[in-house]
Amino acid sequence: QAGVFTHDPGFTSTSSCESAITFIDGDKGELLHRGYPIDQLAEKSHYLEVCYLLLYGELPTAAELEHFETTITRHTMIHEQMHNFFRGFRRDAHPMATMVGVVGAMSAFYHDSTDITDERQREIASHRLIAKMPTIAAMAYKYSIGQPFVYPRNDLDYASNFLRMCFAVPAEEYVVDPVLSRAMDRIFTLHADHEQNASTSTVRLASSSGANPFACIAAGIACLWGPAHGGANQACLEMLKEIGTVDRIPEYIARAKDKNDPFRLMGFGHRVYKNFDPRAKVMKQSADEVLDLLGVENNPLLQVAKELERIALQDDYFAEKKLFPNVDFYSGIILEAMGFPTSMFTPIFAVSRTVGWISQWKEQLADPAMKIGRPRQLYMGATLRDYVEIEDR
Ligand code: SDX
Repeated sequence: QAGVFTHDPGFTSTSSCESAITFIDGDKGELLHRGYPIDQLAEKSHYLEVCYLLLYGELPTAAELEHFETTITRHTMIHEQMHNFFRGFRRDAHPMATMVGVVGAMSAFYHDSTDITDERQREIASHRLIAKMPTIAAMAYKYSIGQPFVYPRNDLDYASNFLRMCFAVPAEEYVVDPVLSRAMDRIFTLHADHEQNASTSTVRLASSSGANPFACIAAGIACLWGPAHGGANQACLEMLKEIGTVDRIPEYIARAKDKNDPFRLMGFGHRVYKNFDPRAKVMKQSADEVLDLLGVENNPLLQVAKELERIALQDDYFAEKKLFPNVDFYSGIILEAMGFPTSMFTPIFAVSRTVGWISQWKEQLADPAMKIGRPRQLYMGATLRDYVEIEDR
């Protein structure tokens, strides 16, 4: 049965779990959210509708969707006193550091949605987190560049609101470009959930101790930050910039194959996909659209990325290791073309993945058999021995 893992009942751990939310077939390169293929959702749906699907298991009716979108829209502002948290950070703090701090601090403000035994409070916490993450990420960005915070608006859709909160300035009205907004929404949709990846497993493990939802999501943000996981989109673009020109690609391909060289091709490989990451295919199409719109279709980074992909996919080493471009390979190019600094790539991933974390958090709490996550170990250390006084050592 799709997505069902059996686990040793005596093994009280969250190292494997049963879930009905997302199914991945790594060999086929298939990704389903509640049974719907990601390429259909990316083309036909939009992020908040996908949020509803992940949270409640079914596509919403028009009335259900309108109610859900209105609820989320009306929760986008954060408590005014939380603005002070941002000012406690240095301006050059990485926005992921700010997000870990501010999201964790939501536990200190939203007391009416921290009791995980109360279904109503769990629902309110879910809506608050999905609604406020774009605002917090945008504020972290504005703070890092010394610009004033921009408040969310209720007349804009989720992606447009985020773009405006990031790029609007008081001196002039910010006009959202519908193509950029569509590309932003598609990036949110493509990163929404991905089964039991490292950060989702972190959220599940944290939730298994009964920690409040804001603390659990802060833990997920911290884990996502790593360059082997959500930090790969930033690392990938920095790698493409370091390569710089097409003629230097062979040097980096050789380094990626050299076992003595820790260098990895960022944006390539995956723990599960041993075929093309289906999200990368959609992302590549979006990259072409956005860069054409921005008139930067000749973006040198895109040329390096496409040539790197072409060479790597022809190389026997990568074929043997089943290394294909993943979701992070093209997302950075789109985000850079949209005007985001590389430091904002992973925060955008965190905004998107919040619904995946929350959906899996709710699923775990609804499981009466949920046990405290307690991974066991294979002990490889010293055998029993007596203490030795310092003069005898
Ligand atoms: C994400 O889990 C998820 O679902 C994550 C994610 C999500 O949506 O949540 O999909 C998002 O994190 C995508 C991955 C982003 N990370 C990167 O792009 C960083 C670069 N990629 C790697 O660090 C690596 O591919 C991992 C960490 C993603 C996977 O590493 P594994 O588990 O070692 O991969 P593997 O077992 O398939 O590796 C097979 C071989 C190994 O060599 P050998 O031990 O067989 O000699 O390929 C090598 C690896 O060392 N290898 C690479 C490589 N990735 C794996 N060699 C060069 N470049 C790479 N990128």
